[in-house]
Amino acid sequence: MKTVSLTLNINGADVTTAVEPRETLADVLRERLTMTATHVGCEHGACGACSVEVDGKIVRSCLMLGFMAEGRGVVTLEGLSDDPVIAVLRRTFHEKHAVQCGFCTPGMLMMARDLLKNRHVTSERDVRDGMAGQICRCTGYAGIVRAILAAAEELRRTSAGAPASA
Ligand code: FES
Ligand code: FES
Repeated sequence: MKTVSLTLNINGADVTTAVEPRETLADVLRERLTMTATHVGCEHGACGACSVEVDGKIVRSCLMLGFMAEGRGVVTLEGLSDDPVIAVLRRTFHEKHAVQCGFCTPGMLMMARDLLKNRHVTSERDVRDGMAGQICRCTGYAGIVRAILAAAEELRRTSAGAPASA
């Protein structure tokens, strides 16, 4: 099938690749660029496994065509290894047993980071509301909620993840 050239910025680096117009951003990341931290579950916007940041906003990369990312800034979990919020979440997910098979975990981490950076999270209700669009097929929600709440408390103490508008 005919391909088009796509140039976008991924995790701070400009990248150019050939894509088919029908390919989703998730496919471009995984298949064209072998960036497999972004998982694909439902492929129709229901599970959140494919969550990435585009121009600072969380999007479901299975719902966005790759060529629509032309000239935009994409952040995936691969680009957040030094991110202070992800560092805390990674630890609390481990401590609170928030990972079972791990399939949903990249999307959970991306969404939890966005939640902790942009909203005040002080209760289990806040976490459950903020993460309502993320599905864990292992049904490990209790551990995930505990982990995000623990991260919120720690980040509040250290201010590393305080919402910019606070
Ligand atoms: S794979 Fe994108 S929301 Fe499920
Ligand atoms: S840990 Fe298995 S899908 Fe969430």
